[in-house]
Amino acid sequence: MFLSKEVKVSAETLKDRLVEIRRHLHRYPETAFEEEKTGEYISTLLEELGLEVKKNVAGTGVVALLKGSEEGKTIALRADMDALPLQDVKDADYSSRHPGVCHACGHDAHMAVVIGAAMLLLKYRDRMKGQVKFIFQPAEEKPPGGASFMIEAGVLNHPSVEAILGIHTNPYFPVGSVALKKGPVMAAADLVKIKIIGSGGHGAAPHQTVDPIVTAAQVIQGLQLIASRRVDPLESVVVTIGKIQGGEKFNIIPREVELEGTVRTLTSDLRDQVKGMIEKILEGITSACGAQYELEYTRNYPVLVNDNTITDLVEAASREILGEENTLLLEKPLMGSEDFANYLEHIPGSYLFLGVRPEEKKIIYPWHHPGYDINEEALPVGAAVLSWAVLKFLQK
Ligand code: NI
Repeated sequence: MFLSKEVKVSAETLKDRLVEIRRHLHRYPETAFEEEKTGEYISTLLEELGLEVKKNVAGTGVVALLKGSEEGKTIALRADMDALPLQDVKDADYSSRHPGVCHACGHDAHMAVVIGAAMLLLKYRDRMKGQVKFIFQPAEEKPPGGASFMIEAGVLNHPSVEAILGIHTNPYFPVGSVALKKGPVMAAADLVKIKIIGSGGHGAAPHQTVDPIVTAAQVIQGLQLIASRRVDPLESVVVTIGKIQGGEKFNIIPREVELEGTVRTLTSDLRDQVKGMIEKILEGITSACGAQYELEYTRNYPVLVNDNTITDLVEAASREILGEENTLLLEKPLMGSEDFANYLEHIPGSYLFLGVRPEEKKIIYPWHHPGYDINEEALPVGAAVLSWAVLKFLQK
């Protein structure tokens, strides 16, 4: 039997165990930076496999090392551990037991898949020239994100990691498939907080005041000029104001209005320019209205850019494991963001999607929906593709 086929068959035999692990994690979800029980559970599983395990890395993170039979390169597999502050609405025996907390982004599945890869690779360690580092990080969902803290804690050193792979469930692709893309895959996401400062007064005498509500309305419109008039139409940018707060009563002009929004871009050059564009629009509009402003611009996750060579390797691995028809190529990046991008600013790697589309008859819930669920047949599929990519990277 070809070795790739053997890896796929071995992965299938792990399915029940991976489902059990995923369901345990699903029942007991924990939110960002609070993944204590999750970290303990993961480290126990890895210790039972006989791996060298480091716990409490950057808080609740777990790192394990699996050495091959010969010295060589190091590749990392990364899983995120956090759940979301949402009430699970599923009616399943594995529904969340923690009120108001739910694995509604599939991070439970990512952990099970990477544990599955550890179980598989353990069987093939004599074929590995080098080692695999398993990185379970806290807080993907909460900027500044767990990845940057894991990097600060040194997870990419000792031994130094030369490539990294990350996987995310995707309910829009069928089970048995993965989806890949070279270059930009996810956007940079920045947080904007704006305060428009006027001077309050009577609603019947606006000329005696500076109205921050009318000013804020102009600012919101003005910010849309960034996408429509300032940036090349062939480039991508999103400026969304998602929160506006100000005012007490219908006939009072307030003193201040606060706005909050997100900026998404797909290149770091454009990312650097947008802040300046926002500032100019704020300056111009507030000065025309006689108001003042304060701008707080926070750079959250950078653009996630997949490395060409590593993505080619994962693509080849997927073709060999899942076949041509189940190796999907993403045409476009997503404007969502991911702190996996932080690792890729240091070392090359690839981030791929795992098809988890539920059964035909079920409704597909998007990520972060309180009914989010996955088809668990995907767990061994993810484990097999990641393991085979690792074995190809570390082949003798
Ligand atoms: Ni996620």
